[in-house]
Amino acid sequence: MKHLLSEKDLSPEEIKQVLTAATDIKKNPEKYKNAAFEKVLLTIFEAPSLRTRLSFDSAMIQMGGDSINYQTMFSPWGVGKESIEDTARTISRYVNLVMIRMHDHEEVVRFAQNASVPVINGLTNYSHPCQLLGDLLTIQEKKGKLQGLKLAYFGDGNNNVTHSLMMGCTKMGMHVSIACPKGRDYEPLPDVVQEANTWAKKTKGSLTITQDSEEAIKNADIVYTDSWMSYHVPKAQLKKRVEIFKPYQVTEKLFAKAPNALFMHCLPALRGHEVTAEVIDSKRSIIFDQAENRLHAQKAIILKVLK
Ligand code: CP
Ligand code: NVA
Repeated sequence: MKHLLSEKDLSPEEIKQVLTAATDIKKNPEKYKNAAFEKVLLTIFEAPSLRTRLSFDSAMIQMGGDSINYQTMFSPWGVGKESIEDTARTISRYVNLVMIRMHDHEEVVRFAQNASVPVINGLTNYSHPCQLLGDLLTIQEKKGKLQGLKLAYFGDGNNNVTHSLMMGCTKMGMHVSIACPKGRDYEPLPDVVQEANTWAKKTKGSLTITQDSEEAIKNADIVYTDSWMSYHVPKAQLKKRVEIFKPYQVTEKLFAKAPNALFMHCLPALRGHEVTAEVIDSKRSIIFDQAENRLHAQKAIILKVLK
């Protein structure tokens, strides 16, 4: 694996390797304090970030390297004065690896095609592979395994995190149930459904897409939701989306139907939208362990692509 652009770049075996490495890194951080010695990471952002920005910066510093941050709006490329191809070729002469957060997934692919250093997707509208790997690490830690577990997701189905969970969890033999409204704007993309179904068949996992939250939550081990207003969604759509997604809100009443489930959210979260305060602040919520694991998982990703 040279780049990590989506879950499609990772075989189940590679996911296991990343999780094993991340577990060791988390347990023995000292052992890795020079693992990225003198390496420089460039992080490029078109959208806001708390977790991704800071966990990548910390990962590099804690492993003896460094990171530089760049906002696309300050680049000649961001203001339409330079091609993405020339930008990627130039950047490759300055740094050892790149993490990039851009809305348009195809642009990230084009960037990577022209970069001679490894490129990691730090979120596009299509997928969020770093989130997936941190999440799998968290689920494995809390539940002791991945194979055979059921993850139920509620809300926006046409969403980067949803896509990553669908492709990544089915690769690990998990059962994924997505409860979302009907319609092209709210359901997962067809190619992701196809990819997840193909993996589910191979791994004895499964994928279900339903409009019925009560059906999705049955026997869930993990209850997951994400923002109804992802970074790229215009504010003008707020009222409409709140109405459409409301039946998929994770409430105490719904959560009570899966008494053994843990609650996860990639964050940022809006209490009263996709989840109520009672659920996200409950004892069964593991959102901050989940946020922490971004750091450990990304250290493993960085070391893997630098190899
Ligand atoms: N979960 C996540 O990627 O958060 P940020 O947008 O804060 O980076
Ligand atoms: N779906 C969310 C994820 C944020 C980490 C978004 O794109 O804004």
